[in-house]
Amino acid sequence: MNHKAPLLWIFLQCAAALLSFALGENALLKGEDSRLDEFSSESTVPNGVIKYNMRKGLDLDQEGCYLQTGRKTCLEECGFNATAKTIFIIHGWTMSGMFESWMHKLISAVMQRETEANVIIVDWLSMAQQLYPDAVNHTQSVGLDIATMLDWLQDEQQLPLGNVHLIGYSLGAHVAGYAGTYVRGTIGRITGLDPAGPMFEGVEDQRRLSPDDADFVDVLHTYTREALGVSIGIQQPIGDIDIYPNGGDVQPGCALGDVLAVANNFMEVMKCEHERAVHLFVDSLMNKDHMSFAFQCTGPDRFKKGICLSCRKNRCNNIGYNARKMRKRRNSKMYLKTRADTPFGGYHYQMKMHVFNRKHSDDADPTFYMQLYGARNDTSNIFVDVHDDNVGLNLTNTFLVFTEEDIGDLLKIRLSWEGDAESWNSVWKNIKKSFWTWNTKPQKPVLEVRRIRVKAGETQKKFTFCAQDPSKTEISPGDSLTFVKCRDGWEVKPRKRLAM
Ligand SMILES: *[C@@H]1O[C@H](CO)[C@@H](O)[C@H](O)[C@H]1NC(C)=O
Ligand SMILES: *[C@@H]1O[C@H](CO)[C@@H](O)[C@H](O)[C@H]1NC(C)=O
Ligand SMILES: *[C@@H]1O[C@H](CO)[C@@H](O)[C@H](O)[C@H]1NC(C)=O
Ligand SMILES: *[C@@H]1O[C@H](CO)[C@@H](O)[C@H](O)[C@H]1NC(C)=O
Repeated sequence: MNHKAPLLWIFLQCAAALLSFALGENALLKGEDSRLDEFSSESTVPNGVIKYNMRKGLDLDQEGCYLQTGRKTCLEECGFNATAKTIFIIHGWTMSGMFESWMHKLISAVMQRETEANVIIVDWLSMAQQLYPDAVNHTQSVGLDIATMLDWLQDEQQLPLGNVHLIGYSLGAHVAGYAGTYVRGTIGRITGLDPAGPMFEGVEDQRRLSPDDADFVDVLHTYTREALGVSIGIQQPIGDIDIYPNGGDVQPGCALGDVLAVANNFMEVMKCEHERAVHLFVDSLMNKDHMSFAFQCTGPDRFKKGICLSCRKNRCNNIGYNARKMRKRRNSKMYLKTRADTPFGGYHYQMKMHVFNRKHSDDADPTFYMQLYGARNDTSNIFVDVHDDNVGLNLTNTFLVFTEEDIGDLLKIRLSWEGDAESWNSVWKNIKKSFWTWNTKPQKPVLEVRRIRVKAGETQKKFTFCAQDPSKTEISPGDSLTFVKCRDGWEVKPRKRLAM
């Protein structure tokens, strides 16, 4: 029997509980607002249930060292350095009751990047390995326990809270939110890695991670696809910045076909997309010299059309660990596309071109591809995705082109119209054969593109590309046009009359 089957069974049990809860029973919880006040400022969890495992070395098989609120000797034993950064890593709901493999990757990436930091795993596995609604109910007391630890460190070691960074995955993100609520003072930063959605979506600020929980709250959303009215990762923006890689729903490399196995496909896809937030964060710790940028946009559709690639007025930011602090703005949503694997970062280009309808193209609905030639490398043919729309004729069209490779400075663009030139010829032949008396001419569509305006998202550089051969600007199915950087005189620059 497939050894994964029991796991799937457990998952289905949990999913059923989760869904029934999300669909009905949580209505009961929502009315009950008094629970926040019931908590005193002291932790209610018995000592030792939540463990603070401070990592000592890169060797992750080593046990590490345990901190305990009120036990000074532990601080010395663990070599806690109150003037260095302190980073807490908080896991989420668990079925296995064990750390998943991402934990080791994240710890090792954090420790390599911040060699002097105190890196502490908040181990609340026993409280997280329960039915989802019970685990949710525990986030508050775990958050309070962390706050109690931080308050003690402030008293005992004059730990500056500004140097504290909580990184929480899934339910752990909301645990971090509660810690930020209860702690005396303001934590420096909280990072939410695909914060859990069920029972947190749409609830008031104090019951989930929110911008007031730390000086800077940044969130990565990777699995916000909805099924039966709930999504595993929270959809709504809940931080100072909220980054939705690949629109926050379908992550490249996680599709059914990409993930192996049979019976547990659904679960693997779920895990792949939910956990992608962690891997993007690890990537940002490891690949400091190739940062991925996210761009502010009102929604995924506008982003996919290439409309939002501006960095003006803080509209773009690095993702993951390298994100720069920004205060909450009216629209905190940011987007980017990524590759399917590490390094996840790629290159975004906004392409603008006016497409003239020259002949017979009213219904042509052209399929364009672009190939980019750079100083370092060339891309393959990239489909120009117009997302449900048709290419607008006699209009300026804006597209997003994403390349996985760094091609260096863009030198040349080849625009091709996918379509069989032959098919037009054969249509013509058939028409001639059957209707030769009509003397019909083939209705071959002809469009014209004179120039392409390009903006590179990563460098913010703008160029205008003109037809390499100024007499060749018309294109039909099966044809291609080549554009190069405009020479003087070809570039559209407003000229001062006086200078002429
Ligand atoms: C503690 O951390 C600070 C800041 O990173 C560093 O300058 C100092 O050397 C560290 N102290 C010890 C004993 O490692
Ligand atoms: C949540 O946990 C508290 C104790 O921490 C318990 O008293 C309460 O009944 C729980 N609520 C639910 C809905 O499970
Ligand atoms: C575009 O303009 C041409 C004339 O320049 C006209 O014949 C054609 O109908 C227009 N097409 C559309 C879709 O507006
Ligand atoms: C150019 O890109 C291709 C993939 O498109 C890649 O296999 C190749 O290694 C790249 N070459 C250089 C010099 O980066």
